Amino acid sequence: MPKDSAGHLVPGTVSATRPVPSSIPRPEYVGKKGPSPFTGSDGYSPEKIALIRESGRIAAQAIQAVGRAIRPGVTTEELDAIGHEFVISHGAYPSTLGYRGYPKSLCSSVNEVICHGIPDDTVLENGDIVNIDITAFKNGVHGDSNVTFIVGEASTAVTDLVERTRESLARGIKAVAPGREVNVIGRAIESYAKRFGYGVVRDFTGHGVGEAFHSGLIIPHYDSAPAYNTVIEPGMVFTIEPMLTLGTHEWDMWADDWTVTTKDKSITAQFEHTLVVTERGAEILTLP
Ligand code: MF3
Ligand code: CO
Ligand code: CO
Repeated sequence: MPKDSAGHLVPGTVSATRPVPSSIPRPEYVGKKGPSPFTGSDGYSPEKIALIRESGRIAAQAIQAVGRAIRPGVTTEELDAIGHEFVISHGAYPSTLGYRGYPKSLCSSVNEVICHGIPDDTVLENGDIVNIDITAFKNGVHGDSNVTFIVGEASTAVTDLVERTRESLARGIKAVAPGREVNVIGRAIESYAKRFGYGVVRDFTGHGVGEAFHSGLIIPHYDSAPAYNTVIEPGMVFTIEPMLTLGTHEWDMWADDWTVTTKDKSITAQFEHTLVVTERGAEILTLP
């Protein structure tokens, strides 16, 4: 239903808030306008990293559970219900629910939606793509990941975009090493994406994550040199989450103040992992 005559998405109807058992601890921002400023560090002890890995695994497994339900005819709110159930049944809180007023337990970003699509009664159709972004909060720490899925069969141009966006994340991760500046990550991603003429989204970035959902540390996905010159150090935890497009990197925001689309309505894909910096490179903390 929610597509206009040009095939572009329009806002659907958002269902009621899903409950979370009161036994599951909430992040501090739930029930407030927004998070308190984060005053901690982006570096974590081995014990804390193990806890972030546990939250990250729940997020990754929840994304897989949602992925198994993706087919033509399913609605994004049905996918939200599956992700929500998975996260709470593993004793975790779905970090997006109540974050700055966000109403759902995952982000479902379809076709031209770059990020932060709200699950609603949108029916997925053959040839669509949908990004599922889930963050789980357990033991006081968040793990954040996302995957783009193809609904049925898509065009070669679209499947290539999805596979190359996955590869751009892999290249960004490989660029991580102690002693380098964080701007090496976006340089690796953008130089790969440019080969194919893809747009690289600039205004939504990776971020420090752990005790805070978004710590304040910013990880650009484009070549920002030398503006973002934070030096990468062992024990640092952050996400890399490139968004590539078949057209422009410019964007529009829907009236819901969440849904971000490409300005030209071109198709866009994203992949995300939470990582910890090691002595030699990076280890992914959001593996199933
Ligand atoms: N998980 C998203 C990220 O990668 C953030 C979603 S915030 C929300 O940073 F409120 F939109 F859900
Ligand atoms: Co993130
Ligand atoms: Co995310």
